[in-house]
Amino acid sequence: MADTRKLFIKTYGCQMNVYDSERMAEALGASGYTMTDRADDADMILLNTCHIREKAAEKVYSELGRLKPLKIANPDLKIGVAGCVAQAEGEEIMRRQPLVDLVVGPQTYHRLPAMEKAVRDGARAVDTDFPEEDKFDHLPKGPRAGRGPSAFLTVQEGCDKFCAFCVVPYTRGAEVSRPVERILSEARDLVEGGVREITLLGQNVNAYHGAGAGGTWTLARLIRELARIDGLARIRFTTSHPNDMDDDLIAAHGDEPKLMPYLHLPVQSGSDRILKAMNRKHTAESYLRLVERLRLARPDLLLSGDFIVGFPGETDQDFEDTMTLVRQVGYGQAYSFKYSARPGTPAAERAAVPDDVAGDRLQRLQALLLDQQRATQNSMIGRDVHVLFEKPGRDVGQMTGKSEYLHAVHVTDPRIEKGQIARVRITRSESNSLGGVVL
Ligand code: 5AD
Ligand code: SF4
Repeated sequence: MADTRKLFIKTYGCQMNVYDSERMAEALGASGYTMTDRADDADMILLNTCHIREKAAEKVYSELGRLKPLKIANPDLKIGVAGCVAQAEGEEIMRRQPLVDLVVGPQTYHRLPAMEKAVRDGARAVDTDFPEEDKFDHLPKGPRAGRGPSAFLTVQEGCDKFCAFCVVPYTRGAEVSRPVERILSEARDLVEGGVREITLLGQNVNAYHGAGAGGTWTLARLIRELARIDGLARIRFTTSHPNDMDDDLIAAHGDEPKLMPYLHLPVQSGSDRILKAMNRKHTAESYLRLVERLRLARPDLLLSGDFIVGFPGETDQDFEDTMTLVRQVGYGQAYSFKYSARPGTPAAERAAVPDDVAGDRLQRLQALLLDQQRATQNSMIGRDVHVLFEKPGRDVGQMTGKSEYLHAVHVTDPRIEKGQIARVRITRSESNSLGGVVL
């Protein structure tokens, strides 16, 4: 019986959750679960949740409400909540939603097989420890086939930065870097399983300082070592803090051909007053200087960012400073959010900017960022890029993949197969993707 059970995982939030969901699937795979993409077909449903903004957390409770009919139709169905909402709310979820059988935080999901067993025996299980042991040591290892040509690899977790608005230091805990050897062997396994591109993940990935041969390794050193793996064609990393961008990492953008020319470098605000209130420990000017140095190393670097508008105390002038910074940098891609007060964070105690004011600012910022994104995409027309093809596109015969700049690119060409990297001339720009012809 155990070998016929089906697992459905719904993933919210960041790429680290995507990676965690894959690992949870592997952990439960060892207990006989195979994946299904239909919730109504599952014996176990896991929601891998995000707590970063209020809306993200609320979504979980509405989704749980929607799962109720499935549980009524199939009383054997087990429902679990994983991820950062699980970590932050733990027992509270159990109280608020009696249909939940299992709550597991981001640091304990290697214990899922034991929890699953307890739950099958009729218990309700909560585990939101920050355990002594390293979960990665207790998860299945070896080549992971069927993952597609692009994979995530978590190298660092947690954050010690304590930006005044952010729950991550509380839900994911203190900064921990995985040892170099484990990362290299996981990367080799991925490549053996057909992966050609690895995105190194961490809440503060460029603060990586893992134990390796001869002492502590930086992210740059790790990247240079990973680049030596035959068959691995591309390396990316996310998310970075401006203050952890060291000289070698900047240089690697210029001299390590496998490191892709795309960098997600959140700034949050362009106002020094607000940056200080956010506890960001950098200024707009120091960020701009950093961008300059990065572009000196890699002139075609495509920059992406995160922005928060309506942070407590943000004036019209502060917001205009953000708009000015955006115009100075020129982003190819960006994510912008209205400030959301998160319980337990320092900023949650401060007086909020009126919602309509924050809403107007968000609209203006997003319009500017969208203009920049479009302009960047349009500038690709006529240029030749290299595309790693990942899957069939929406139209018949179409294949889609990512350029080095992380643009989604579609082509219609029968020669193209999944996992192939081909030179493509960009011929058109659509709302969120590019089209081209294979050269
Ligand atoms: N409100 C709004 N946006 C937030 N972010 C993090 N915390 C909050 C919050 N409380 C945004 C930041 C971060 C991104 C992942 O989410 O911009 O870089
Ligand atoms: Fe949150 Fe700031 Fe840490 Fe990023 S650097 S995870 S925004 S506390």
